[in-house]
Amino acid sequence: MAFLRNCWYAAAWAGEVGDRLLARTILDVPMVFFRDSAGRPAALLDRCPHRLLPLSMGRLRGDSIECGYHGLTFDCSGRCVRAPGQERIPPAARVPSYPAVDHLGMVWVWPGDPALADPAKLFDRLPQWALSQGEEPAWGLNCGPYTHVKCNYQLLTENLVDPAHVTYVHTTTLGTPAMADIPVETTQHGDTLLVTRWTLDSPAAPILQRFGKWPGNVDRWQYYWLYPPSIAVVDFGSHVPGMDHSDAARDAGIRIYSCHFLTPETEGSTHYFWLQLRNFAQRDAAVSREITEQFVLAFAEDKAVLEAIEAAEARPMITERVKLALDSGSVRLRRTVARMIADEQAQPRGGATA
Ligand code: FES
Ligand SMILES: [Fe+2]
Repeated sequence: MAFLRNCWYAAAWAGEVGDRLLARTILDVPMVFFRDSAGRPAALLDRCPHRLLPLSMGRLRGDSIECGYHGLTFDCSGRCVRAPGQERIPPAARVPSYPAVDHLGMVWVWPGDPALADPAKLFDRLPQWALSQGEEPAWGLNCGPYTHVKCNYQLLTENLVDPAHVTYVHTTTLGTPAMADIPVETTQHGDTLLVTRWTLDSPAAPILQRFGKWPGNVDRWQYYWLYPPSIAVVDFGSHVPGMDHSDAARDAGIRIYSCHFLTPETEGSTHYFWLQLRNFAQRDAAVSREITEQFVLAFAEDKAVLEAIEAAEARPMITERVKLALDSGSVRLRRTVARMIADEQAQPRGGATA
């Protein structure tokens, strides 16, 4: 299966990349991440062109990486700046580099054609993130730990256009039995997918009731936005029964944006970065910790299901799969991503790995 390469992917939390070398495989390409002396992130192929020792096993020397075997030294652009024991630097002593930038508290990398990398194409559909920064944040922010999942990234993205699984997988955190039989509605806006569901006048989900403390039933919304290939923003929350469905009405309730950034590591494994933005207890660090803990539990439930499916797919015993009405988001998503990959590969420069 091919990947969409000409696209920004979250590669690491900003704090993971610093004065030590971070090895991380992105779209099957082993990369090493570090920062230069000005704090700018850099990404190189994690292979020394001499004997292929991973450069991540070497040392960071100022703005350069020194190979841990014979000391070939490369700058942030991958240019060799020193070859110990000889004056002439061999022309082949060069390492591919990948555009890398800081954005939304993460380091993002462009694994495709570097000439096409454009900061204007970074994910910009989350204005609440900027409002979570500074002394008087309008939105509270909590970030999950780096999460590794042993499944193809599309099992994760299809899980994120699937509000129906919540009742069955997340019984203690996000799910409620009342939602089980309410159909979801799927719409598409360009490449972006939106799957929605409203559950009216019923008990709040456990995670929301802790903060909403409603005396009785609530209306609950789930808006699952999926930005192909692999970014999902789930807008969910609750407010008093009979609320209207406008953006302003949702802001008046307890509202959380649960944001998911999925990056293929290999065909069968994924880097998973997630964070939540909330419109309550914005500055309360204890609430941030509590929400993170709740989502660690919830996403461990997804991880268990999806890793079991990945393993089952590797040993096919049933060839025909049943389609359900709740699959409409997944079908559209897979079709959209397949089309984007085909379009990229049809372009003369598409699919380059630098
Ligand atoms: S393997 Fe890197 S310098 Fe020899
Ligand atoms: Fe889930």
